[in-house]
Amino acid sequence: MSSPLSLRPAITAAAASYKFPLLRKKNTISSSSSSALPMASNPAVQIGGFLAKKNYEAPPWASHLSPLPKHTYSLGHLPTPIHKWNIPNLPENTELWIKRDDLSGMQLSGNKVRKLEFLLADAVAQDADCVITVGGIQSNHCRATAVAARYLNLDCYLILRTSKVLVDKDPGLTGNLLVERLVGAHVELVSKEEYAKIGSEALAELLKERLLSQGRKPYVIPVGGSNSLGTWGYIEAIREIGQQTKTSNDEIQFDDIVVACGSGGTIAGLALGSKLSNLKAKVHAFSVCDDPDYFYNYTQGLLDGLQAGVETRDIVNIQDAKGLGYAMNTSEELQFVKDIAATTGIVLDPVYSGKAAYTMLKDMAKNPTKWEGRKVLFIHTGGLLGLYDKVDQMASTMGKWQKMEIAETIPREDGTGKMF
Ligand SMILES: Cc1ncc(COP(=O)(O)O)c(C=O)c1O
Repeated sequence: MSSPLSLRPAITAAAASYKFPLLRKKNTISSSSSSALPMASNPAVQIGGFLAKKNYEAPPWASHLSPLPKHTYSLGHLPTPIHKWNIPNLPENTELWIKRDDLSGMQLSGNKVRKLEFLLADAVAQDADCVITVGGIQSNHCRATAVAARYLNLDCYLILRTSKVLVDKDPGLTGNLLVERLVGAHVELVSKEEYAKIGSEALAELLKERLLSQGRKPYVIPVGGSNSLGTWGYIEAIREIGQQTKTSNDEIQFDDIVVACGSGGTIAGLALGSKLSNLKAKVHAFSVCDDPDYFYNYTQGLLDGLQAGVETRDIVNIQDAKGLGYAMNTSEELQFVKDIAATTGIVLDPVYSGKAAYTMLKDMAKNPTKWEGRKVLFIHTGGLLGLYDKVDQMASTMGKWQKMEIAETIPREDGTGKMF
């Protein structure tokens, strides 16, 4: 037998010339022919439901909404857990619980997964061969879309917003970018100024025209996956919470649901679902960009698109949690993220749930009577990879480290499992 070392050149040469036999240039998905489905979504090659295409039936209390989705892809690891969140010094008799939508997956995780279950089913039904979406340079939505699209054998084109000085430079591999680039998403950068001037819809349209002229079949997903179809993701989450609380030993009835708001789709689904179902919890949104008025109007459009016949201002309360600006943090906010992790084990992201929880707890301290005796469900919407963008700013909040002291008298002998 040759030594492992002698195999190395052969492996390197083979790897260099290796072609994935199953990789196809263009998607040949047809909703009518299962044999033409891509690898991952072909029911014959997945076990246990993950990545399966399913017929969708809306909850009875939402069945009057229109249009109703026909299909979903099972992309999330659902239901996500709900557990008590033991943060100290809450107002009297306030019970704080947390729904762990950050655990809806790994690289494909967070709140966007729920929206993508509907959006990508629509893309496949429309015979798309690629998707386009838009977001900030560390967009969790873009990362989740890139991964989900790859699973379903769709190419993914991302338009990412960055600063004027960085728009011509390699965006690097920090956080979400690493995953996006690993799964082969096409990254196109625009400056914040171009984004503000042209707008996300027009930018996506420009890219769509280019891809159409190349013979591609692009499907556009709006910023954050927040359109009326994507709203179904969190209408479904309300059904999930209802089922979880009904079957729990505690038989808990939540009074309030608290969540971050960045493009509006999550709060639209939660607020509408909570109003229509038996849950009837009050939904509190903490907006991390734009302002509450913008989101009242935007979510109204999402609900009108479902012919819901409700006023957003009647079903959701939106408070500003933007602070210094979108994706910008004060050192106090980052210290809060660190303290929550150190006391409860919950790692919040700095851009969304971190700011929402920070502002919620400030509000609890300022207006305790508003929250006293209430059962509050905070939804952790994920975004862990966004923390990697903050490592420099967070360094000073970290605990001490030291080289392990090993007495000179302890013999340095070869042991087993040396790892080098
Ligand atoms: C981690 C995370 N949490 C919350 C949100 C906000 O959700 P929505 O865009 O539906 O308002 C986003 C995206 O914007 C997100 O990436």
